[in-house]
Amino acid sequence: MAKIIFEPYGDEREVADGSSLVEPCEECGVPFACTEGVCGTCVIEVLEGMENLSEFTQEERDFLGDPGKERLACQCKIQQGLIKIKF
Ligand code: FES
Repeated sequence: MAKIIFEPYGDEREVADGSSLVEPCEECGVPFACTEGVCGTCVIEVLEGMENLSEFTQEERDFLGDPGKERLACQCKIQQGLIKIKF
């Protein structure tokens, strides 16, 4: 199992390794629109555990530029371990 902690309120969700972030993030209030990496509605800041997320996608590169602390939640999968995000 992998764990996602949402800041600033400290909500937590446990999901299977390899899960998309869409469902747990929607449950915790992250807004989504296109879910295809185009609109940027679902931008999150990764405070901890970037190494536990799937690789930066071309859609993320097109919208966010070079990899930094931000990701598009609709494009990410959590591979294992813990991530802490802010939105
Ligand atoms: S919901 Fe549109 S980029 Fe993620």
